[in-house]
Amino acid sequence: MTGDSSRPSSAHAPHPAWLPDDAFAAIGSRRVVVAGDGALAGTVAEEVAAATARFGGSFSRLEVGDGVSDADLVLTLSPPVPTSGGPDESFRLTREAGAVVVQAACDAGLLHGFFHLVRLGDDAFDGPDTDETHAPATDLRMLDHWDNVDVHPTMGQVERGYSGGSIFYDDGVVHADLSRVERYARLLAAVGINRVAINNVNVHAREARLLTDDLGDVVRVAAVFRRWGIRVHLSVSFASPMTLGGLDTSDPLDQGVAHWWVRAAARAWDAIPDFGGFVVKADSEGQPGPFAYGRTHADGANMLAAAVEPYDGLVHWRAFVYDHKQDWRDRSTDRARAAYDHFRPLDGTFSDNVVLQVKYGPMDFQVREPLNPLLAAMPHTRVALELQVTQEYTGQQRHAVYLGPQWSQILGFRFWDSAGRAGGSPSVADLATGRGKAVEDPGTGTWRKPAGGFAAVSNVGDDEFWTGHPFAQANLYAYGRLCWDPTLDPGAVLDEWVGLTFPGAPDVVGQALHAVLDRSWETYELYTAPLGVGFMVRPGHHYGPDVDGYEYTPWGTYHFADRDGIGVDRTVGTGTGYAGQYPAPWSATYESPTSCPDELLLFFHHVPYTHVLHSGKTVVQHIYDTHFDGVERVEQMIAVWSEVSALMDPRVSERVSERLAEQLRSATEWRDQVNTYFFRKSGIPDERGRTIY
Ligand code: GCU
Repeated sequence: MTGDSSRPSSAHAPHPAWLPDDAFAAIGSRRVVVAGDGALAGTVAEEVAAATARFGGSFSRLEVGDGVSDADLVLTLSPPVPTSGGPDESFRLTREAGAVVVQAACDAGLLHGFFHLVRLGDDAFDGPDTDETHAPATDLRMLDHWDNVDVHPTMGQVERGYSGGSIFYDDGVVHADLSRVERYARLLAAVGINRVAINNVNVHAREARLLTDDLGDVVRVAAVFRRWGIRVHLSVSFASPMTLGGLDTSDPLDQGVAHWWVRAAARAWDAIPDFGGFVVKADSEGQPGPFAYGRTHADGANMLAAAVEPYDGLVHWRAFVYDHKQDWRDRSTDRARAAYDHFRPLDGTFSDNVVLQVKYGPMDFQVREPLNPLLAAMPHTRVALELQVTQEYTGQQRHAVYLGPQWSQILGFRFWDSAGRAGGSPSVADLATGRGKAVEDPGTGTWRKPAGGFAAVSNVGDDEFWTGHPFAQANLYAYGRLCWDPTLDPGAVLDEWVGLTFPGAPDVVGQALHAVLDRSWETYELYTAPLGVGFMVRPGHHYGPDVDGYEYTPWGTYHFADRDGIGVDRTVGTGTGYAGQYPAPWSATYESPTSCPDELLLFFHHVPYTHVLHSGKTVVQHIYDTHFDGVERVEQMIAVWSEVSALMDPRVSERVSERLAEQLRSATEWRDQVNTYFFRKSGIPDERGRTIY
């Protein structure tokens, strides 16, 4: 069992999340004009009409250029906004003597401007005079759904889904009623997401047919997203020419194969003119790919890219390629090296419409990993940063874990700067957005290709709160906001989410939710796998502790704990050489246990339990202390929550309380298994004499 099969409460109307009716009070109580054509201007007009009807304001729809008088707010399509970067979705906001004007060159900008005002509420109208231009950091802000059309025998309806069933599919068919998809699209538009891949990257037989026989289903879903400025993409199987087309090969250099994809693309864009393109997981965890034919990943990606190029389509090609059938006795193979080793030599060979989608860490969405060095190693390739909003390895939406701080740290990391010296070289956000200093590669001095943007695995299902844990909504919200502006402060984004989602709640509620969530990522790290070593989860479903669960498996995720020490030697000097994949200065920083940051020590080094960290503690004492602290912090979260839970909607209150109780049970389980394991291995007692079993 991997998905959440309990299917909590799809019978209930979905929770409004960050768009409750009250969020529209400021706009709805004013005199509003919408001017301009286009589908998304129509969507804005409908929103304004509904809001003004509800809150007593007035609404008029005018032609662009019509004279306007007595309006508090004008949302208009003309004239073009003088801005550089993202002209399609940008908007200009002016406020003079309380009258607000949003201007956009395109209707997508109007929609984003509208939701910007929703976020501001009364402040949009009450603030000082202003003239601001807003544009997204990148035009590729994507969510990937790992939803299966059929219920998969082991992965369920949604692979790594923790929020009930799929909002798209139900046991083999696309839902007849797509109203939940419509609400979802509206929520996504409100945080700036503009692309969605609607099926699992592991493309099984039924799902492959979405590209051919069942394209009509995709047409229906795309029509819903289109109203909200969101383009639909499909995950496709590299073997489709064989499995769907009856060919005897999927060799990317075979003319028949290339023609099959050309025809498939033509059909897709004929049916869905704004179709986004293909997402491909090839030669990865058993998925088919070009290796079977002795071809490179550039051969595979470029063949697909040629098929979608006439339509401005994209191929998101995933870099998650490694040997998942490794022999654990083989110490020369290091899974962490794999993405760089496979893809670095291909830099400069990918077509312009290929986006190489790279997970943030070299392993697999762990609570703590170093940044994937591949992100800094492809100056001539469009690289997208891939995050995981679904909490596969961070508590599976049973634990409250706000990931904004993790993402913010990832986005701000600078590969060519030493720790603490900010500002000299491109950040990861710069690399993914092509902004700022990313245009010139500091290593080679050559120009980078356009941005690859952001992609992340969605955490949404047909659960009444969308995300299982109501607080996991904050992660979806933060992902969208950080895609739009990666420099936003994650604590401020959290407060923004609280303010919108629980309007009118007393200040004490906002303060309590902030206290519960703001450091919750760190708390989860405290009570799970220590010092960057990763995993230690139960194999298969990945929930709860199992220190040796993956130690003797083929998956390449080992910690190598023995009676003397723990950790993976990834140094160039004596280990797998992985540390050498980083540019200076990080290659040197990670190479030495003396300079390696504590939180990543065991990712890079095998050290004795008595090794002293920068914190002054030994490794084993650090393990004991953090695991006791982690559980205490969860107890504090519960204490803070219990002060305000009665002030919340009882449905939210009940669900959160139930999940926090499970978090405490699970954190305690983690503490006791991890501490006991290391006490037994090392024989070293806790300095403070606490109970270890
Ligand atoms: C993880 C996850 C899989 C998923 C894979 C991927 O390994 O456990 O379910 O398919 O990542 O990103 O492709």
